[in-house]
Amino acid sequence: MSDTAVSLDALFESHLATLSRRFASALEREGYGGALLYSGTLIYAFRDDATYPFRAHAPFKQWAPVTDVPECFVYFEPGRQPLLLFFSPTDYWYKPAVVPRSYWTRHFDIRPIRSRAEAREALPADLGKVAYVGERFAELEQWGVAAVNPEPLLTRLDYERAIKTPYELECLREANRIGVQGHLAAARAFRDGASEFDIHLAFLRGCGLREQELPYNAIVALNEGAAILHYQVLERRAPATVHSLLIDAGAEFAGYASDITRTHAFSDPEFTALIGRMDELQQALCAVVRAGVDWRDVHLSAHRHVAELLHEADIVTCDAEEAVDTGVSSVFLPHGIGHLLGLQVHDAGGLLRSPEGGEIPRPEGHPYLRLTRILEEGFVVTMEPGIYFIDALLEEARADSRARKINWSRVEQLRRFGGIRIEDNLAVTKTGCENLTRDAFRAALGSPPVT
Ligand code: GLY
Ligand code: MN
Ligand code: MN
Repeated sequence: MSDTAVSLDALFESHLATLSRRFASALEREGYGGALLYSGTLIYAFRDDATYPFRAHAPFKQWAPVTDVPECFVYFEPGRQPLLLFFSPTDYWYKPAVVPRSYWTRHFDIRPIRSRAEAREALPADLGKVAYVGERFAELEQWGVAAVNPEPLLTRLDYERAIKTPYELECLREANRIGVQGHLAAARAFRDGASEFDIHLAFLRGCGLREQELPYNAIVALNEGAAILHYQVLERRAPATVHSLLIDAGAEFAGYASDITRTHAFSDPEFTALIGRMDELQQALCAVVRAGVDWRDVHLSAHRHVAELLHEADIVTCDAEEAVDTGVSSVFLPHGIGHLLGLQVHDAGGLLRSPEGGEIPRPEGHPYLRLTRILEEGFVVTMEPGIYFIDALLEEARADSRARKINWSRVEQLRRFGGIRIEDNLAVTKTGCENLTRDAFRAALGSPPVT
């Protein structure tokens, strides 16, 4: 077993104990006797026999790290060993999944099933007190479950999912270590003059993952493409002149995601310096992260920092306070400063006021912030400040009173670089945070992690 497998073995038992406790208490409060969690089904394209890549449901894979097998179920009843119904059909078109043996499997009663009918037979005859979580399927109507995806139960579970167990933190560390290998390979390809497509292939090879195993579509943008926040094109040919690369790409490990962005200048010293300044700014923001901090304050503080940088770089002519108050900073930074990370890249529950629900509103004028909660020990968040030269937003600003606060010749000069984003993954502690991404870079580059 690798070092990671050894430490996961030790951590999984307490992870499962925590999950069992959380589920037992949520089920009791909502009046259910058990939970049935589905991994999901294969979805076919319209009138086609080809399927979309499979993605296991988050609540299922939090229990059983089976990320690539549809039609599985976890059945949990408080006080009982969880049951995993593992789909392994008789099939000669596809290779049936093999019942796993790994660091986690001894904690489950695992039974292979070949069909949904067999799954139903393996479950208790009476599911009248059981909450079902997952996509609906036709046969479910006859299974007699008490409720399908009851919102109050899911809300409770989402709320608590923000606090990662030590096992989940280790999975997220590993997802960062793998993602960093991809980033290092991608940076080398960029230096060699590769196209977006080839940089993407380098990322995949560096991670040792196929595309459908990534937690989200990698953003690999050369030059102006970096201004498109979720740029999805992978140009097969490199541009005639390469200025910059923004790569936002993560890896997945045991169902947990990393979400990492780096921006590289090809040769321009001024843009290199601007990336360096953004890196310092990002580190200053990471330094304020700890339990008890209101994430909305971090977001607003990021806008002030970015506005100062814009002023210092002569992109914005007014002072930082005015740039924030008049929405000029949002022209250059139109997304949230970060979000919860875990089983999903944009993990669930970021706006929840309490386990009972309700929403903590976003600050006015900041509609894309995905996290408004007070940070708690065990949260994992991204920190991703950036500045971008986005034509559509610049045109809007040019047409109103913000126009005279922007140095348009400077914008024109920098447009060819597209933008800068630097994104790390942080595990919140009582007194600060652990930077999972920087630690992984340091380890990969041969220096010890900073404690
Ligand atoms: N990769 C998407 C994001 O950074 O939120
Ligand atoms: Mn992110
Ligand atoms: Mn990202």
